[in-house]
Amino acid sequence: MASAANNRYDMYAHFAGQITRAGFYTGLHRLTNEITARLGQRPPPFKPEGPMPGPIDLFRDLLAFLYEDAQLVREGICPPLDNQDGSLLQQFIRIRKMIQDLPVSHRRRTQRDVDEVAKLPEIEGLPDYFVQNFHYQTGGYLTDESARLYDVQVETLFLGATNAMRRQALKPISEFIHGRDQRQLAALDVACGTGRFIGQLKHVYPSLPVTGLDLSAAYLREAKQHTRARRNIRLVLANAEEMPLADRSQDIVTCFFLFHELPPDVRRQVAREMARVLKPGGLIVLIDSLQLGDKPGYDGLLKAFPMRFHEPYYRHYIEDDVAAILAGSGLVYSKSWNALMSKVVVGRKPKRSLHH
Ligand SMILES: C[S@@+](CC[C@H](N)C(=O)[O-])C[C@H]1O[C@@H](n2cnc3c(N)ncnc32)[C@H](O)[C@@H]1O
Repeated sequence: MASAANNRYDMYAHFAGQITRAGFYTGLHRLTNEITARLGQRPPPFKPEGPMPGPIDLFRDLLAFLYEDAQLVREGICPPLDNQDGSLLQQFIRIRKMIQDLPVSHRRRTQRDVDEVAKLPEIEGLPDYFVQNFHYQTGGYLTDESARLYDVQVETLFLGATNAMRRQALKPISEFIHGRDQRQLAALDVACGTGRFIGQLKHVYPSLPVTGLDLSAAYLREAKQHTRARRNIRLVLANAEEMPLADRSQDIVTCFFLFHELPPDVRRQVAREMARVLKPGGLIVLIDSLQLGDKPGYDGLLKAFPMRFHEPYYRHYIEDDVAAILAGSGLVYSKSWNALMSKVVVGRKPKRSLHH
């Protein structure tokens, strides 16, 4: 058992490591902005519709959030320095490719072209809402190249804090698992993408059986590669609207950064599916964008986001009522808190379920 003093040293090491990483991605964020500015053909200007955080506010909030992240290490909720970044060489190659892709994605943004993916053969059988160039990214969610670049792209966008935002889910998960045998539990990550959270979860709970589900074959291939050193992981290619999983089969369901990419009715259907597969008494943890009113000073930034990135359902999402979505699926909202630019929402399936 780690002593409190060890935890404290680990916490400082983790905090220092995360600050360094955030500094690196903040530099990369500025560099990519600089490169796209020089490409000319700016997208049509927009007027901020509400308060926007300045660079100093963002820097202060980022530091405070990384300190909060480090408390997970101090409290023994997770071991330190779990960056999920791969080797330096892999990082270098991905970042170089991301930079090489900037002119192409920038042209797509200036021309508001969101249908490039509609020409790919991979779209067969996929729902229309999914077949779009989300964020104007090349290949949307459909190509191996997109899957390889996704994590450096989001870390660059979120100043190196994306992993830490996902890590917040470990708080309710550790409370839930405390006193139980992890080998006897089942966890499901809905829309697992490239498997970064599965990697984090297995880093803390190596014996926990985990299923990752996603609609993108390419992203699942990247997830498989990323988690290849871990055991007891099942990756399922399926639509979260209709999951090929048994009723009441999961103790823990997580779902990160999916809801804002779904049309409102699909969002509700996915919540019903998550409720169906959860066991009575099971835990649900959702992480997605902050919503309007969650953080004073950020509303203008949230409203501007879908003007800068192709996010067709985001504007609806930031005003949607997540607690009501849970309630409508037979789940009970427990609590929520802000995690930098995201919000963590925790709920439970009642032991005596009303709907199932
Ligand atoms: C913004 S990414 C988030 C990925 C991951 N959860 C993370 O934390 O990075 C959205 C993911 O949702 C997946 N997705 C979108 N619609 C889906 C659906 N109906 N069913 C399953 N996965 C879906 C996409 O393929 C993509 O991997």
